[in-house]
Amino acid sequence: MKVDILSLFPEMFSGVFQQSILKKASDKGLVDFEVTDFRKYTTNKHHKVDDYPYGGGAGMVLMPQPIFDAMDHITQDLTEKPRVILMTPQGKTFKQKHAEELAKEDHLIFICGHYEGYDERIREALVTDEFSIGDFVLTGGELASMVMIDSIVRLLPGVLGNDDSAVTDSFSTGLLEHPQYTRPSDFRGMKVPETLLSGNHALIDRWRRRESLYRTFHRRPDLLEGRTFTEEELAWLEKFRKEEEK
Ligand code: ADE
Repeated sequence: MKVDILSLFPEMFSGVFQQSILKKASDKGLVDFEVTDFRKYTTNKHHKVDDYPYGGGAGMVLMPQPIFDAMDHITQDLTEKPRVILMTPQGKTFKQKHAEELAKEDHLIFICGHYEGYDERIREALVTDEFSIGDFVLTGGELASMVMIDSIVRLLPGVLGNDDSAVTDSFSTGLLEHPQYTRPSDFRGMKVPETLLSGNHALIDRWRRRESLYRTFHRRPDLLEGRTFTEEELAWLEKFRKEEEK
């Protein structure tokens, strides 16, 4: 996958791309990151990237010219149109299903603004998707794009050591992950549930499915809306509800 990023602060990305899983992914050639400082494409004397909004008002607006020219440069030799993602609190909220969908693309371009708004023509002519990482306002799209890129790249085949670990993630199954334990089985008197030590895989699997549902029921009941349940799950849910009433 090729990942292009347009940003006024390219150095913000160096730490994130040069550590851990993202670094391994690019070392293995599974992803190629390129950060473009679109200030380099300014044609005005002072390398200004923003200006006052027409009609007045507070704040500055990113001008179309540097971003359009940077995009022309990035896309000049392409035969297929890549997805162009604008980072903005006005975008749709980024979810695991979006990470899964975007992980299938060969090329993604992220546009990150900083402090200011975007001239609407950037949205109209260049952008295919607008994403927010949540209902809060950051100083810029950089951190938000890093969050998205991290969650997308870890899904690329070969990036995670154990292929299973992405499949059982919280959210990708539609439920939160069950509790996990490792050695020792008794730590300061806090014991690991017997079932997990039993070696009975059917029993362990059942315990995990129930705990996963229990956790989701209490922490994120919104995730259960519109889901279809097995008979067993319905019985568990009934129990959880009764417990809650007590
Ligand atoms: N830029 C500023 N705030 C943002 C957010 N919450 N998500 C994406 N981009 C942003």
